[in-house]
Amino acid sequence: MCFACHRMNGAGITEIGPDLNLPTNPVDYFKPDALFMLIRDPVTVRQWPDMQLHGFSEEQLSDRENHNVIAYLTEISTRKVE
Ligand code: HEC
Repeated sequence: MCFACHRMNGAGITEIGPDLNLPTNPVDYFKPDALFMLIRDPVTVRQWPDMQLHGFSEEQLSDRENHNVIAYLTEISTRKVE
């Protein structure tokens, strides 16, 4: 779901959203609760007219899966490609 719009560690072909690990991973600059809410419903964290991250409902991404995404981001934040 995420890699339709995001690259990871430089891999991927999309140019819609930022790479989710380079140069820094969102876990490095978002508090965990804010990152959880950003993925669930970004306008609860920040908003502007042209924002393209629309978030994911609990049907699309359960709370458990959202925590798993953040755990994955936390793990891969220690494995940045040079
Ligand atoms: C429809 C395209 C799209 C999808 C799908 C998408 N994103 Fe995004 N995302 C964006 C864009 C574009 C931005 C940049 C901010 C904006 O325009 O909303 C962004 C921003 C973000 C940010 C904030 C990055 C920053 O530094 O500000 C995070 C974190 C994020 N997305 C995580 C995810 C995760 C996790 C998923 C999958 C569960 C996902 N996104 C799926 C398009 C998408």
